Amino acid sequence: MSLLKIDKITQVFFSSDDYKVVLDNVNLEINDNEFVAFLGPSGCGKTTLLSIISGLLKPTIGNVYIKDIQIEKPTNRIGYMLQQDFLYPWRTIEENIVIGLEINKIKSPENIRYALNLLKQVGLENVEQDYPQQLSGGMRQRVALVRTLATQPEILLLDEPFSALDYQTKIKLEELVFHTLKQFKKSAILVTHDIEEAIAVCDRIYIFNKDPGTIAHEIIVPEDLKQLNPFNARQHPEFAKLFDHIWKEMEKLG
Ligand SMILES: Nc1ncnc2c1ncn2[C@@H]1O[C@H](COP(=O)(O)OP(=O)(O)OP(=O)(O)O)[C@@H](O)[C@H]1O
Ligand SMILES: [Mg+2]
Repeated sequence: MSLLKIDKITQVFFSSDDYKVVLDNVNLEINDNEFVAFLGPSGCGKTTLLSIISGLLKPTIGNVYIKDIQIEKPTNRIGYMLQQDFLYPWRTIEENIVIGLEINKIKSPENIRYALNLLKQVGLENVEQDYPQQLSGGMRQRVALVRTLATQPEILLLDEPFSALDYQTKIKLEELVFHTLKQFKKSAILVTHDIEEAIAVCDRIYIFNKDPGTIAHEIIVPEDLKQLNPFNARQHPEFAKLFDHIWKEMEKLG
């Protein structure tokens, strides 16, 4: 049984005099301990699909299942890290990382300890009483990651978590996310525009077409690349070959 099953998802947005088919019959499955990328042009429906998977948006047609149980509303089995980091500026870092625990009504001393310990794991020490605006962009993204992990979800949805960061910070954060999710044996969907990032971090890549959003290709990253951490994967000869292949496929899509 797969961990996550997306079954015949179609999403149509209606306005007063028009409609737009944003996703058209999307089917896919994700397994335990798997890291999967959604790669595709702006507007192809990646964020919309994450909103549907998280239970925030009810699809026009189709269903989402986690281990055969249908997801119809947000649940702490799924951790969603939104496209913009939306840490609350009036809350301290500690108050921000427990928001998920509050929403899910599981804010016990043990779970707070778990969240605070995660901060240490991602290299953030002595920031608990700081406010988000005192932190750099990379640090804020790490806080957002901790908040997402704090509720101990089975799968994480990461919507372009690295796109607003400078190159070095981005590579470092890719490493951190890669190792943290492996350590905690989590599955994840990483939405990105960046072909290199998808290959370096993920086990499998879905390439999306636009207007309407459909799955154009599924790419399985070769085993020797999967084993390497994101930095080293970029140096491997297979990396450039796969990049070239995906580039050409995406060119064909226009
Ligand atoms: N609530 C909504 N009502 C109407 N149209 C919407 C709504 N949400 C998204 N759309 C439209 O659906 C399409 C897909 O949007 P979405 O944000 O899912 O794309 P995306 O692939 O995440 O793009 P990006 O890479 O720029 O983040 C866009 O044309 C967008 O305008
Ligand atoms: Mg988006």
